[in-house]
Amino acid sequence: MTSPISAELQALELCCAECRHCGLAEKRQQVVVGRGNPEARLMLIGEAPGAEEDARGLPFVGRSGQLLSGLIAEAGLDEEQDLYICNVIKCRPPGNRKPTAQEIDQCRPWLEQQMTLIKPPLVLLAGATALRALLGIRSGISQRRGQWHDQDQRAFMPVFHPSYLLRFRSREPGSPQDLTLQDLKEARRRLCRERPSLR
Ligand code: URA
Repeated sequence: MTSPISAELQALELCCAECRHCGLAEKRQQVVVGRGNPEARLMLIGEAPGAEEDARGLPFVGRSGQLLSGLIAEAGLDEEQDLYICNVIKCRPPGNRKPTAQEIDQCRPWLEQQMTLIKPPLVLLAGATALRALLGIRSGISQRRGQWHDQDQRAFMPVFHPSYLLRFRSREPGSPQDLTLQDLKEARRRLCRERPSLR
């Protein structure tokens, strides 16, 4: 049976599919709204869809997404159950360039509606674009990753963007991949603390 949240999210997806708020609508193949469990208490927000995501209509399903999925599983989280995954902007910027401030602002109502429907108490911000868009913090991820920031009755944790992790193969202690795994484990611990039935 479809839950009320799923039904509302589906309605939102239909509205997003019609969106022409910015010029990205012209070149996109699909609007990439989100995937995962709409009832999840943990949301992960990335930057923008890439080529694979644009083709399939789902976030984080390309190379960086595969790396992310592996780390999520290794941290003991069930990607389908424990998470809802989306991006700051819903359409692919040509050539995977960074979204402009204007594109982010024009897309913001969709993200805000997603957050209002899903109501995640915990949010992972993957990369500098998400950190800046959600918390207005301009400093690099390295200085902020792994720390919870409380805002609007939610706890946000910046983590490295999975595409950045692709540049480093090492899994040594202290490497970006290892640090991200630690961050995801901390997110899982907090989820378990706040809802012990998850354990
Ligand atoms: N990078 C992102 O930020 N989001 C995706 O969905 C894929 C790659």
